[in-house]
Amino acid sequence: MPKKIRLGILGGGGDSLIGILHRVAAQINDNYELVGAVFSSNFEKNKAFAQALNMPLERIYEDFKMFVEEEMKLPESERIRVCAVLTPNYLHHQMALELFEKGFHVICEKPLTTSLEKAKALQKAHKKAGTVFALTHTYTGYPMVRQMREMIKSGALGKIHKVDVVYYQGWVNTVIHDEDKRSSVWRLDPEKAGISSCMGDIGVHAFNMLEYTTGLKVKSVLSDFNFLYQDNTMDLDGTVLIRLGDYAKGVVRASQIATGEENGLAISIYGEKAAFRWEQEKPNFLYLLSDSLPTQVYKPGHTYNSELSLDGTKLPAGHPEGIFDAMANIYKGVAKAVRGQKYNDGEFPTMLDGVRGMNFIEATVASHRGGNVWVDLE
Ligand SMILES: NC(=O)c1ccc[n+]([C@@H]2O[C@H](COP(=O)([O-])OP(=O)(O)OC[C@H]3O[C@@H](n4cnc5c(N)ncnc54)[C@H](O)[C@@H]3O)[C@@H](O)[C@H]2O)c1
Repeated sequence: MPKKIRLGILGGGGDSLIGILHRVAAQINDNYELVGAVFSSNFEKNKAFAQALNMPLERIYEDFKMFVEEEMKLPESERIRVCAVLTPNYLHHQMALELFEKGFHVICEKPLTTSLEKAKALQKAHKKAGTVFALTHTYTGYPMVRQMREMIKSGALGKIHKVDVVYYQGWVNTVIHDEDKRSSVWRLDPEKAGISSCMGDIGVHAFNMLEYTTGLKVKSVLSDFNFLYQDNTMDLDGTVLIRLGDYAKGVVRASQIATGEENGLAISIYGEKAAFRWEQEKPNFLYLLSDSLPTQVYKPGHTYNSELSLDGTKLPAGHPEGIFDAMANIYKGVAKAVRGQKYNDGEFPTMLDGVRGMNFIEATVASHRGGNVWVDLE
């Protein structure tokens, strides 16, 4: 068993949504050891949470600055190697930039930054640093999503002519109608979230899912947003027409006000030979549709699946694995990269995916603001 990789976590405190997903995922394949953190901007909360996790307090730092300073004083053999950035969006850029400069490997939550310009600056710094970087578009870690990618790559669908990705949630309904509640949510604050709420938070997952599975690149977008109230500057719902080529088109439909919806991400990919349909809330069923044959259902853990898909399954077929396992697969890929082992480029989303995601977010905002016009991605 290789030595565990020392992991540090920034953000992701006891009050956070995403922290538990990363902490559990990091443990699942026995690759990491959580040794240090700044779980919260509040030092008392930070220490209390570390104690609840039974972590010694020596490497629970007051803030990010101290985290870096103190870790850099340690010999390399003791220093944290991989840092997970799980803070609200506006902190990703400054943290990742500093971490690259100091030679840390970085796992960062999406969206990469709050602007394309910052994303490009980060891309440059990462290139210079040469360390490992992964962006946690969690859903790419599902075995059946990986299976779609591999089968599409080997031509199972033929030429793709239509992609429909939907990501519907309803949680913003619980805060948006009350001004006080609305202003207490960082996702609705452009200073903290960036220029978009719906596209920045979930539309970008849908966009990444489209490019990850099809291998195609979105060329241009035309969007129409709903802000629900005149004084609200953040989009809460949007439909984005997508051009992938002259004869390949698609649509990203995303909403945070889709009443009653939970985490409804789903993708349908239609090709000349066959089609795929997959839903995040039922991640272990992948449907292969055809005009001439009955629908086939692919499931994880069977030998008919690709190597990339099988690498993401730990138990025999029929033992359902879920979102924690999907994130764990991303952590597993990062561990291979950090150890200099061979890995498939589908094992974790990269800096390029992060930059493209920011490009998508800004292009959809520009399209809506420009009066629903076509905007090219770079
Ligand atoms: N991959 C996914 O599917 C997914 C899902 C949810 C959230 N996210 C992303 O994860 C990030 C965090 O989202 P969340 O929902 O967990 O947010 P959250 O508001 O629930 O939690 C944020 C955490 O960061 C901590 N924090 C804030 N400022 C800090 C600072 N300066 N130093 C250290 N800690 C600080 C807070 O104390 C809190 O624990 C966002 O970028 C979000 O887009 C990704």
